[in-house]
Amino acid sequence: MTKSVFRPPATALAALAATALAATALVAAATTTASAATGLGQLAAAKGRYIGTALANNHLGESAYATVADREFNSVTPENEMKWDATEPSRGSFSYGGGDAIVNHAQAHGQSVRGHTLVWHSQLPSWVSNGGFNAATLTSIMQNHISNVAGHYKGKLYAWDVVNEAFNEDGTRRQSVFQTTIGDGYIATAFQAARAADPTAKLYYNDYNIEGINAKSTAVYNMVKAFKQQGVPIDGVGFQTHLILGQVPSDLQANLQRFADLGVDVALTEVDVRMQTPADSGKLATQSSNYNALTKACLNVARCVGITLWGVTDKYSWVPDVFPGYGAPLLFDDNYNAKPAYTGMGTALGGTTSSPSPSASPSASPSTSPSSPPGRSCSATYRTVNQWNTGFQGEVTVANTGASAIGGWTVIWAFPNGQTVTQLWNGTLSQSGANVTVRNMSYNGSLAPNASTTFGFTGDWSGANGAPSPVTCAAS
Ligand code: XIL
Repeated sequence: MTKSVFRPPATALAALAATALAATALVAAATTTASAATGLGQLAAAKGRYIGTALANNHLGESAYATVADREFNSVTPENEMKWDATEPSRGSFSYGGGDAIVNHAQAHGQSVRGHTLVWHSQLPSWVSNGGFNAATLTSIMQNHISNVAGHYKGKLYAWDVVNEAFNEDGTRRQSVFQTTIGDGYIATAFQAARAADPTAKLYYNDYNIEGINAKSTAVYNMVKAFKQQGVPIDGVGFQTHLILGQVPSDLQANLQRFADLGVDVALTEVDVRMQTPADSGKLATQSSNYNALTKACLNVARCVGITLWGVTDKYSWVPDVFPGYGAPLLFDDNYNAKPAYTGMGTALGGTTSSPSPSASPSASPSTSPSSPPGRSCSATYRTVNQWNTGFQGEVTVANTGASAIGGWTVIWAFPNGQTVTQLWNGTLSQSGANVTVRNMSYNGSLAPNASTTFGFTGDWSGANGAPSPVTCAAS
């Protein structure tokens, strides 16, 4: 397997050694056994964003699949495990095994989870679509589904795709069973039910072919605008971004921005860039520049919180099944080799592309004193919450100690007694020997003056479990 990571050349590192940026890059480069992503996700985290992947339970047992997923991505979306046919296959009978496995995996690897999806015409059991229910009954079936599923995952998810694919290309409503039975109001009702079930998850409307400015995206735009005016609880819009090679809309950024200007977050939620197979070097180069462009479009919009790829490897992409003759749409090929598209995305995220060699190591040591830009500062307070045989639970409170709002934070410490972090939540972890670096997730990086947030973790210890000192915090 070709291991492909981003890291700046050693000379650049040395020159920047005193800065938080260098501390970040050095730790990333020096990490060999990180339990969180040291690739794209980490680059994105340094910018307060995430890079995610759709994750499928049935492939998690394949070590290369899990290794690449956990190295590269700091967010996951269950590819199928939280859809209606998986979670309520028959009326009133709920099953969460698949979704729980994804959430557990994500929590163990410092990844946030986007829930997908509560209300959708597809992968909908026929007891719903063909049940012949009247409006009142179908409304309560929908509310009950949302309250159970979102209630089950309450507090564990970063976001929910509450309603998926409710519009046609011409901007009219798709004639799903929800639309034809309940009418236009079903979408607002679904968002209200989701907010009641899980008040902390960001609630998204999600769709495809809305990446550019067109009739469909404008219809979604008008709905979001109305929801904002009416107080319907919507927090974000997901742009699936299932693209064809060479067809990144030129107005992608402008379109994301017009939604953001309505006061919602935006995210690219299911990205792939399909090509006619077989792939060749020309197509792969075009794909690389397409990934570069879509990543930049997101980064250029302050409220674009992250990008999710619709899969880890071309081998398991949904594309060839659904678009015959097309494939190779993702960042890793069938053998988990990074494709040019990986470089295209990584360079947009600020990485450089020198290929790693096992013997090359940075010429400077990691800085343990990251610095913050003028006017921004933060503190980190470490405490041991609980301790047993060989394990313990810790918590770190990060506080904005400056007069200005901060957009992100990086906490660094070194364990004094050989402790290791085994699982961490509400932050992105990298760990190299005794050195631990934790960065904010996209949802807890922004702190007003005096505001604070916490992240938690479990760890292993033996002999002694002393608290580390210093525990430093850098704001950005
Ligand atoms: C796809 C999955 O990738 C496939 O495994 C499944 O057979 C069908 O659904 N839009 C969405 C996703 O919102 O849920 C779809 O995922 C792809 C299109």
